[in-house]
Amino acid sequence: MRRFLLLLRSNWLSWAGALLTTLSFMAFVTSWVYLSLYGAEHGPYVGLLVFVALPGLFVAGLAMMPFGWLVFRKHLRARMAALQERPIRLFRLLAVLTLVNLSVVGTGGYQALHFMDSQQFCGTLCHQVMSPTYEAYQGSAHAKVACVDCHIGPGASWFVKSKLSGLRQVLAVTFDTFQRPIPTPVHDLRPARDTCEQCHWPDKFSGDRLVVRTHFDDDEAATQKTTALVLKTGGKRPDGKATGIHWHVHPGNRVTYVAGDKQRTKIPWVEFVDESGKRRVFTVDGVDEKNPPAGELRTMDCLDCHNQPSHQFQDPGTALDEAIAAGLVSRKLPFVRKLGLEALKMVWPREAAAAGIAKHYTDFYAKSGPVTAEQQELIAKASEAIAAIWRRNIHPDMGITWGTYPQFQGHGGCFRCHDGEHMDADGEPISNDCTTCHTMLADRVQDPEILKQLGLVDR
Ligand code: HEC
Ligand code: HEC
Ligand code: HEC
Ligand code: HEC
Ligand code: HEC
Repeated sequence: MRRFLLLLRSNWLSWAGALLTTLSFMAFVTSWVYLSLYGAEHGPYVGLLVFVALPGLFVAGLAMMPFGWLVFRKHLRARMAALQERPIRLFRLLAVLTLVNLSVVGTGGYQALHFMDSQQFCGTLCHQVMSPTYEAYQGSAHAKVACVDCHIGPGASWFVKSKLSGLRQVLAVTFDTFQRPIPTPVHDLRPARDTCEQCHWPDKFSGDRLVVRTHFDDDEAATQKTTALVLKTGGKRPDGKATGIHWHVHPGNRVTYVAGDKQRTKIPWVEFVDESGKRRVFTVDGVDEKNPPAGELRTMDCLDCHNQPSHQFQDPGTALDEAIAAGLVSRKLPFVRKLGLEALKMVWPREAAAAGIAKHYTDFYAKSGPVTAEQQELIAKASEAIAAIWRRNIHPDMGITWGTYPQFQGHGGCFRCHDGEHMDADGEPISNDCTTCHTMLADRVQDPEILKQLGLVDR
């Protein structure tokens, strides 16, 4: 061993490499043990240091050793000559050390990849870039589904692809060349069928869904109205045929379209092929069925409706309705919804939003007399709730405001095709009857009778 050290010290480069490797190895082992014992909730920067930077230094040090011998070949030869009388078993020693190193690199590398797949790494490391998406994600139905389950999915080839595109993204963040807002749709996203269908299986979609929504008017009392409808989500029926909304992703059906713009908001040409191979093409006025216009050709999958499955940005009216329904924004305040909507559309500094919104209310009420202490208290609570909605959806530094990311799951998405203007060769449109997708039970009605009949509210 001492002889090996002698060889290492034959030049400064190999010597420095050996030091670097040893120190980073010790640092890695101690921090890893420490984190496993005490650091379950360590922050992303600690993770980056321990699981990415330290193993990096370890490998760099390893590489420096042979590199030093190569550069300073003369020195190495001189040392070897000096050791001539009892040659060290360099080869055997190297074999043992390599084995140890490989196992360290293996563990370190595995830890590094594991860490890079964590929500923490994805969601918080590139703080400014990801924080709007990460905030929206934390409030979604998928808050416990890992980013990588949708963004990478299983298998090696997408893993490699994603690491390459990740490298590009790290460069873009480092040199501040990324786009604001991050453009959607994400064009190189893995096909939804490979990712979503690990957990959601179209064969098992079936039946309808009762949707009850509470709305409030913009009048003084913020009158409560209820909408109730049965959404025909559908899927595969017992006889094997598909119906309803999930008909589009039934394995036998294929709907392909041409997108007229990058965001896929305009769709001039749609082709539908059924199980038996029968084909129908629907086009808008002025587009020839046989010559699809230039643009992205895409087969419909989950994302053509669920385009924001896990980071949904809200629209201000719906978000406000939810906050009122939850009792966070009190209807005891006159015109509470109208004023709240106005405040949501104003531009606030992030920290000052709640105070600014409170002032918007008090300024209005002060015109018709003094604001009572009870009102002050309700205003403070409402303003904090409304500011939270504002902060979750508006991110001026990332260029995100109301409507930046279009939602395809409702009318806006469906009516790209179901607008009555997409005709087939016989002049038959893609179905756009109001009953195609849902049965309306109550459309903005006060205390609808139907909910009582269904036993959803007390009679
Ligand atoms: C349930 C699946 C799913 C999960 C979980 C998920 N994403 Fe996404 N994400 C998507 C899809 C689908 C898109 C593409 C949206 C589009 O093309 O319009 C997307 C788009 C994005 C975008 C582009 C901008 C935007 O907001 O649409 C970012 C950034 C992003 N995801 C980051 C993340 C991060 C970070 C996490 C984990 C904290 C995460 N995603 C978890 C499915 C998912
Ligand atoms: C790792 C498993 C997993 C993956 C992958 C996944 N989901 Fe989900 N999804 C869930 C879970 C769990 C829920 C919550 C179910 C519940 O609340 O009843 C959910 C809920 C949903 C809902 C209902 C949302 C709501 O707000 O009620 C939709 C729509 C959905 N997922 C679509 C998708 C799409 C589209 C993808 C692919 C981009 C996807 N999921 C990928 C597990 C997953
Ligand atoms: C044509 C549009 C469309 C397509 C394509 C589509 N969905 Fe949906 N999906 C909907 C709508 C609309 C709802 C009802 C949403 C609501 O309740 O407001 C829904 C509901 C759901 C739900 C909630 C549970 C339920 O059955 O009510 C899940 C989970 C889901 N979809 C997953 C998927 C997956 C996975 C795919 C791809 C295989 C997919 N969807 C394809 C429009 C679509
Ligand atoms: C890219 C175009 C396109 C988009 C976007 C689209 N659809 Fe369709 N949809 C079609 C075509 C084509 C058909 C088949 C022709 C027909 O039924 O008129 C169809 C059929 C349907 C059917 C009838 C299925 C059956 O039982 O026969 C329903 C229900 C439906 N769509 C709901 C929706 C909903 C809800 C959305 C939005 C969340 C949506 N579609 C978005 C193209 C589209
Ligand atoms: C292609 C399918 C489709 C057609 C056609 C369609 N809708 Fe809808 N509609 C939907 C879906 C999907 C939702 C649920 C959207 C959501 O989750 O916000 C919805 C929701 C609604 C709502 C409830 C909105 C709310 O939040 O209170 C009303 C009202 C409504 N539709 C009215 C109509 C009327 C009126 C027509 C006929 C002119 C019509 N729809 C045609 C798919 C359709």
